[in-house]
Amino acid sequence: MQIPTLEQAEAFMLEAEKRNPTPWANHARFVAKAARAIANVHPRLDPDTAYILGLAHDIGRQEGWSDIKHILDGYKFFMARGFDDAARICLTHSFANGYPDAYSGTWDIQPEEKLFIRQFIQTVPFDDYDRLIQLCDGLALPSGFCLLEVRVVDVMLRHGAGEHITAQIKATLKIKQDFEKEIGVSIYSLLEGVVENTFTFQHVLD
Ligand SMILES: [Fe+2]
Repeated sequence: MQIPTLEQAEAFMLEAEKRNPTPWANHARFVAKAARAIANVHPRLDPDTAYILGLAHDIGRQEGWSDIKHILDGYKFFMARGFDDAARICLTHSFANGYPDAYSGTWDIQPEEKLFIRQFIQTVPFDDYDRLIQLCDGLALPSGFCLLEVRVVDVMLRHGAGEHITAQIKATLKIKQDFEKEIGVSIYSLLEGVVENTFTFQHVLD
């Protein structure tokens, strides 16, 4: 796969966090840890690859606050460096149900960029890594792992809930169920501190 090494990915994250020192970086680190924990017990996934892709998925956040623009910024960042599979994860992680118009936030990009994303999502069949990061994106707050449903509410409070929100939630829950069928245990049994972090988390209400 065309992805950075672990060392490169960690270095990209440190540099990116310096450029935009907000909680997104710690969210990404917990996505990476969740991905590795699941990959550790999965028959086809490589734990280091899972970790690297988890770290990579939101790298576009380094450009400052944005909505869907962050996935395109991340894609461009990794494509420019020849890491096509990390670039792909930046785009696919926001579309758990495979339907491009299901994104519930703002399309703060140009029309031709929207067209590119729509075509990409409709053309590329999701693989195990795409689905893994779509799932793990829903299991990680900046403070640690959490119940998927808590993260869903957190995202809705910050980005709003469009008409496709229930389809997106169902798709993510389906991914969770499919992974659990394959690994034979609850994903939550693999996530250290998930209970404490879920029940101490306070949603931002203003
Ligand atoms: Fe994320």
